[in-house]
Amino acid sequence: MKILCIGEAVLDKVYFLETNFKNGLKFVAKDFYYELGGSALRAGLFLKKMGADVVFITCLGKDKEGEIVLNELKKREIKVVFSLSETTKENIVIVTKEDRSIIKKPIKKQKLKIKNINLIKSSDLIILDRHYSEVFDILMKNKKPETEIIFDPSTEISSRTIKILKKVNYPILPWEAIKILGKDFRSGVKKLMRIIKKPYILTCGKFGSVLIDKKIKFFNSYKGKIVNSNGAGDFFRGAFAYGILNKFDLESNLDWSNYVSAFCLERNLKFSKNEIKKRVLKKNNFSLKDVVENFRKI
Ligand SMILES: Nc1ncnc2c1ncn2[C@@H]1O[C@H](COP(=O)(O)OP(=O)(O)O)[C@@H](O)[C@H]1O
Ligand SMILES: [Mg+2]
Repeated sequence: MKILCIGEAVLDKVYFLETNFKNGLKFVAKDFYYELGGSALRAGLFLKKMGADVVFITCLGKDKEGEIVLNELKKREIKVVFSLSETTKENIVIVTKEDRSIIKKPIKKQKLKIKNINLIKSSDLIILDRHYSEVFDILMKNKKPETEIIFDPSTEISSRTIKILKKVNYPILPWEAIKILGKDFRSGVKKLMRIIKKPYILTCGKFGSVLIDKKIKFFNSYKGKIVNSNGAGDFFRGAFAYGILNKFDLESNLDWSNYVSAFCLERNLKFSKNEIKKRVLKKNNFSLKDVVENFRKI
């Protein structure tokens, strides 16, 4: 199965502190490491782990950071096709036991070009994040009719993302995106339904996910020992793509995607394909009521 992932590539420079971070003080980090960031990229890392053939299209600079990103992806046998940009995106990420802070390096708008249209024509599934969503029309024009697109708008509800959400097979949004449309959960959810006029999925952080169709259906999350809740939504989308390729029905796919997210948050991609299939984690005891009540706090 050929998966085409299109989106930003970011090099996260992660400093892990044992104490809490406070402005104005000096710290020696307990640990320092690089991590690959970017929603479509991280979904691709999961799919590669599950045995898919993954091609990643992005923008990279001719700098040390770009080289590190390329090497990391090469190690994982992911084929990278990139447009040259001035610099590679990079973040300083400060992780403590309590939370995480991100400082983004300022960067000029990057322009992505897809020169090899055959990459689109031959793909069985496409994952697109919001950063290069301008390529959406090219994808629609050149993909096989049966190839589905998973699109991640993050919290960007704009005319550009709405146009895409209306056309993709499975809109999946974080619940924070609903916050922009309404103060309470039910009115926000209805408003988005009126805009995109089709069923969609919301991921709701530690509570799990919901399917918004004629009714709202809740899918409980799983109990993982979370080491770092960064990128849960990326794994959710990667897992959902795997479910589509393996013809899971929608409800089983949402349950599986919740499971994979919790598992990946616990293991950070350090597991084998067979290990994840054993389904060792237990479900949480949340309900739709928890989602509605906690929505006010986000
Ligand atoms: N603390 C957690 N415990 C268990 N599962 C989680 C936790 N946080 C997130 N998840 C799972 O990951 C999915 C995506 O997380 P979410 O935070 O909504 O996305 P994003 O990373 O886009 O903010 C959720 O639907 C849920 O299944
Ligand atoms: Mg979240």
